[in-house]
Amino acid sequence: MTDINESDLYKLFKKSEEAESVYTIGTTVDTGLEWQAVDECKEKVDTTLHVVKERGKIYFNIRLDQFSKVKEMRSIDNIFLVSDVRQFNFSEDDGETDLTLLKNAIEKDLRLEKGLEAWKAMTGFRGKLYPKQEEFKDADKLLKAEKNQPPEDAVVGDVRKGRKRGRDPSLSSEEDILKYRVTCERTGSHAFESGQVARVIGGELQDKYFWLVDLTMYHLEVICNLVQNELATCLRITHESKHRRNIIHFGPTTLRATVCYSLLRLANPKPGDIIIDPMCGGGSIPIEAAIAFPDTYVLCGDNHEKAVARTKLNIDAQSINHKTELITWSVAKLPLKDSYVDIVVTDMPFGKRSGSMTDNRVLYKRYITELARVAKLGTGRLVLLTYDRRSIQMALQSASNLFKVIKMLGVNMGGLHTAVYVLKRTKLPYNP
Ligand SMILES: C[S@@+](CC[C@H](N)C(=O)[O-])C[C@H]1O[C@@H](n2cnc3c(N)ncnc32)[C@H](O)[C@@H]1O
Repeated sequence: MTDINESDLYKLFKKSEEAESVYTIGTTVDTGLEWQAVDECKEKVDTTLHVVKERGKIYFNIRLDQFSKVKEMRSIDNIFLVSDVRQFNFSEDDGETDLTLLKNAIEKDLRLEKGLEAWKAMTGFRGKLYPKQEEFKDADKLLKAEKNQPPEDAVVGDVRKGRKRGRDPSLSSEEDILKYRVTCERTGSHAFESGQVARVIGGELQDKYFWLVDLTMYHLEVICNLVQNELATCLRITHESKHRRNIIHFGPTTLRATVCYSLLRLANPKPGDIIIDPMCGGGSIPIEAAIAFPDTYVLCGDNHEKAVARTKLNIDAQSINHKTELITWSVAKLPLKDSYVDIVVTDMPFGKRSGSMTDNRVLYKRYITELARVAKLGTGRLVLLTYDRRSIQMALQSASNLFKVIKMLGVNMGGLHTAVYVLKRTKLPYNP
């Protein structure tokens, strides 16, 4: 027993442990957009779901038959199954004692079987979860010999580009022995390193289950999430991040599909709505809009020739039929009628990777004025993402009677602290 407070995740996991067919799912989410993921989760999986929200993550309990609904979620990135949560009384100054504590606990009573069966069902792994010791020894010899051979190009390409994590478990054969790796993500002050935790837990799991260690082409990644004195042992379900789903031709400022979805959600699209992205870059927002909200009409454009060409290639690469119009235009003068558009969702030039802060002051003002003209009076919604808060605030000040700020969120975009503004067009007519 410990003298530590039980975390919300700990309590959630204990509930799943009490029920035979209930599992705790964790997902990574773009930091700052967690509430969009919580709302989507309730909408798609179960309205009564209790969702635990942490920075950049959400957790909830489901039955196995609800997993297909989790896979349909568009605001989440990686999915994992929480297989164990426990707390420790670490000394905090004696690393060896603390690691022994960890080792003994794992050896004595870490039981991953319930989670492993669910992992197998969720990923479609067809190989052996519990090989015999002899099978392990033979396969281990083979694997070590293989590792001494030069790797095949295609395989190395996949892993080094960081697009895929390990290998797709559903492509395994019945003869395959489970290949795994253990990683540790650690928050708080400890007298040991993350790598030591991964090695201790990895060693104990091998002694218990006879799995093969493979740091690159693993079927299963066991993620040990140690926050202060609480260890959550998670099994990765997704071997490929969901944020890369739509785009084939990436540009310098391509937005993650998960962020695009959450931005669109903030605008609350309804069937029949006209959605535009007037600065579409490579088309990530309009493509996500057309896929996730197929009952809407999507229009997009950019003033940069290369961006328009990239959007066209990305739209053409989609397998579904899009109602997406692409036009070369400048946001200073959009070829649209007054009060025509229901929703504008834009990722504006940050003035860092694209544009400059000085240009932005002029550009943002002209853009906001033009949006005041094309957005529907009284109902038009705008969701604008930018790093350049000063320029957008100046632009909004100059149009303060034309837009009402509904919400402002801080979103972390690859280390940049960006802002998302949700605005509603007032009823005041536009007078140039
Ligand atoms: C941050 S990027 C958009 C990236 C896009 N969301 C993506 O995922 O590829 C901003 C885009 O605004 C475009 N832009 C800048 N000034 C513009 C203007 N006056 N009219 C139209 N587009 C403009 C740039 O060419 C750039 O493609």
